[in-house]
Amino acid sequence: MSVAYDFDTVSTATPNDLEAFWMGFTANRAFKARPRMVARAKDMHYFTPEGRPILDASAGLWCANAGHSRDPIVQAIQKQAAELDFAPTFQYGHPTAFRAASRIAELAPGDLDHVFFCNSGSEADDTALKIALAYHAIRGNGTRTRLIGRERGYHGVGFGGISVGGISPNRRFFGGMLTGVDHLPHTYDREKQAFSKGEPEWGAERAEALEGIVALHDAQTIAAVIVEPMAGSTGGLPAPKGYLKRLREICDKYGILLIFDEVITGFGRLGFPFAAERYGVVPDMIAFAKGVTSGTVPMGGVIVRKGIYDTFMDGPEHVIELFHGYTYSGHPLACAASLATLDLYRDEGLFERAREMEPVFADAMMSLKGKPGILDIRTVGLVGAFDMAPSPEGPGKRGFKAMEVGFHDNGIMFRVTGDTLAVSPPLIISESQVGEIVDKLSKTIDAVM
Ligand SMILES: Cc1ncc(COP(=O)(O)O)c(C=O)c1O
Repeated sequence: MSVAYDFDTVSTATPNDLEAFWMGFTANRAFKARPRMVARAKDMHYFTPEGRPILDASAGLWCANAGHSRDPIVQAIQKQAAELDFAPTFQYGHPTAFRAASRIAELAPGDLDHVFFCNSGSEADDTALKIALAYHAIRGNGTRTRLIGRERGYHGVGFGGISVGGISPNRRFFGGMLTGVDHLPHTYDREKQAFSKGEPEWGAERAEALEGIVALHDAQTIAAVIVEPMAGSTGGLPAPKGYLKRLREICDKYGILLIFDEVITGFGRLGFPFAAERYGVVPDMIAFAKGVTSGTVPMGGVIVRKGIYDTFMDGPEHVIELFHGYTYSGHPLACAASLATLDLYRDEGLFERAREMEPVFADAMMSLKGKPGILDIRTVGLVGAFDMAPSPEGPGKRGFKAMEVGFHDNGIMFRVTGDTLAVSPPLIISESQVGEIVDKLSKTIDAVM
């Protein structure tokens, strides 16, 4: 049963039915019976249509890293819309796209210096996987078609992404997906890692499983390995110490491309432009999205190493080198939003701020250790995750209730996966607002235990 919702205070005088919008990754009937609706946002807060502030402890969906409705970004989007609303980037171009690509590439480590644009994290991941396959094919290694993901990995919802992804409900109903895919084991073991701040001491050995996968399939069949430096969607699982370095070594040994999915970890979430820098590991490709525009306009992309780009730049010059792209790749509004966002990150030192804030944030989150029903707390950068014991009513029920109580009673938005609560606030958060998150979470957890 959905309710009629009065949008009066939003933009229209007529009460609307909530039925038509089939919401993604949402319990639609429960939402429509008791909506968690926001109508406005500024800096660290959302506001309900009635004007009640909601502390944004999740940067929306891990994306509003600069905070909400920031003036310089808003103005840049408005100006761009008036000046050049749309231009194709197939065979034509516009300056803002080239500027944005250069600025993004500047932030990437090593020789990652070319950017392929798309519009979301899912598209970024599928693009990276396709580039990997095409790269090997062009070099005459046509047998290298196998893609390796990881259990508990999330790489969006395209067929490529769900194939290498490791979340069973995201895969269950969608047929055979890509063939020739295998998965590394995930890196989480509560017994060995519970209540870790930052990268857990234990777990680098899980990278050795790649050797086993190579032995099973033969390196000559493997195109790429894709991992998130911190698995976000399955509950904020930071890479164990040394894990990513070891993956890099094994990939190098066998000529396998290493893709970092930095859709969440990019643009300051872990205190650096990209987590690659935090871990001192240069991948062959970085998939990004979300924070690149602070969530204001959809944008994603893949940053590739020079050698990969150069491999494609062969053959007659009038011939298209990569048969891939999206109508909205390098959309003027997204590029303008991105340039303004990157300026803001730089001018306000927000990546450094996240790094400085990390210990304060970690201590604050860990203060909830010992609460009844809290099985683990993990932190890294400005990410905190809380595993709650499932309720006797079944897995996910307590997490869902926490989301409702958090929003309706305690004025906080966070992310819920099963019975895990995840927080990832905008990087502009103040110390007192970190305290506020802890208070609100604490009250929320108490209410659902
Ligand atoms: C690591 C990672 N990759 C890919 C995606 C998919 O991004 P999008 O929802 O923009 O397609 C997400 C989204 O949360 C993500 O966290």
